[in-house]
Amino acid sequence: MNMKTTSRSFHRAALASAFLATSLGVSLVLATSASGAATTLGAAAAQSGRYFGAAVAAGKLGDSTYVNILNREFTMVTPENEMKWDATEPNRGQFNYSGGDRILNQAVSTGKRVRGHALLWYQQEPGWAQRMEGSDLRSAMMNHVTQVATHYKGKIYAWDVVNEAFADGGSGGRRDSNLQRTGNDWIEAAFRAARAADPGAKLCYNDYNTDGVNAKSTGIYNMVRDFKSRGVPIDCVGFQSHLSGNPPGDYQANLQRFADLGVEVQITELDIAGSNQANAYAAVTRACVAVARCAGITTWGIRDTDSWRTGENPLLFDGNGNKKAAYNSVLDALNAAPPTTPTTTTTPTTTTTPTTTTTPTTTTTPPPGDCTASVTLNQWNGGFVANVKVSAGTAGLTGWRVTTNLPSGAAVTSAWSAGNSGTTGSVTWTNVSYNGTVAAGQSTEFGFQGTGNAEGVTTSCAAN
Ligand code: G3I
Repeated sequence: MNMKTTSRSFHRAALASAFLATSLGVSLVLATSASGAATTLGAAAAQSGRYFGAAVAAGKLGDSTYVNILNREFTMVTPENEMKWDATEPNRGQFNYSGGDRILNQAVSTGKRVRGHALLWYQQEPGWAQRMEGSDLRSAMMNHVTQVATHYKGKIYAWDVVNEAFADGGSGGRRDSNLQRTGNDWIEAAFRAARAADPGAKLCYNDYNTDGVNAKSTGIYNMVRDFKSRGVPIDCVGFQSHLSGNPPGDYQANLQRFADLGVEVQITELDIAGSNQANAYAAVTRACVAVARCAGITTWGIRDTDSWRTGENPLLFDGNGNKKAAYNSVLDALNAAPPTTPTTTTTPTTTTTPTTTTTPTTTTTPPPGDCTASVTLNQWNGGFVANVKVSAGTAGLTGWRVTTNLPSGAAVTSAWSAGNSGTTGSVTWTNVSYNGTVAAGQSTEFGFQGTGNAEGVTTSCAAN
């Protein structure tokens, strides 16, 4: 994307947001001053093609002070807890998107974008997952990623696919957890599953204590470099930046070394305690705007009273919703950014889809009334997720039947959007009530997951 395109598309997005917000009765303040400097965080960040976001709690969307600041200042939203595993899959296979949907709908209806947080994290696992290990857990993890990313498909700017998987301290290695104990490839398997489910979302790895060049950030850097070299789909790295005082002197250099790997960098959970707060916020902001691939900054909450760091007052607005000195220092630093700095968007494309993907496995051109099926496979050591696309021929379908031939040793453990007879070898899948009718030339999808190795699976489709 060239600079002109970036700048034009951001202006269009800003105009569209303003129109949308106005037509929805959302009050917009003038976002530039007489001198031309932007007067809100979102507008100031947009001048250099960046976003400015906040973590949002669904339970606060009825608080008018909170919502007014949110709508006036921010262009990106991260649900603080509502898209986490314990919230979205409280019981195995039972999904609850109420809180996440509420935040997403509020954001989208006021012209904001959404960062999804977080598909897999060793904390806030639901109780049932905490009690699991091994291949059973791995299946549950991949199903979770697939289901949640599919539910939000096309609506998420970037997903924190994996959160906080590296250990603190000097090892530079992985943190022990039941997720990690399913095998070291769990992170790449999660990224592949997320890409298969939502090819349009940027996929991020997110962590804290990664603010300078240190053992932990270097461990992550090495993982990202390895992923890029092997085609594992990763687009961005999130630096949480929960700070006390100034960021380390090599904060910008650390962002830059990741950016140089070809990923976007994002400040994802910024909050700063301490008396030097305004200067520290300015330093973080200046570092981001100095790195072309730093796409934006999100603060972890709006007012001090919304913060998880109770009593530390680490945010940009006080408990009454007034702008603090730190707010002005961020605004000034954003306004001082070179206006033409491009964002870096390595828009995800199918060229980085998993190397293990077998797509498409298609039958020959169907006669009228018939159909084709193709399968996209995300295979890891010991398990797989398969997404099957059923396409109607020239006459459309009122029901369909797909047969998948699984290699020996592969077995289906669960499925969605289709009924099956059998779990091994030749498995027949039949449409469910809502996806049997497919218009001519259109398609629908179903999926299943299982254990073993399904590479080489073939499909065929017939109209019912
Ligand atoms: O909503 C329930 C409420 O019904 C119940 O009465 C109450 C009793 O404890 O708990 C409430 O849930 C709490 C939830 O926040 C909402 O306030 C959870 O206990 C509490 O654990 C949860 O804390 C969140 C924390 O992640 C979980 O580890 C914080 O809000 C959230 O800010 C924090 O965010 C994390 C990021 O996701 C990842 N990076 C670090 C960051 C700070 O820890």
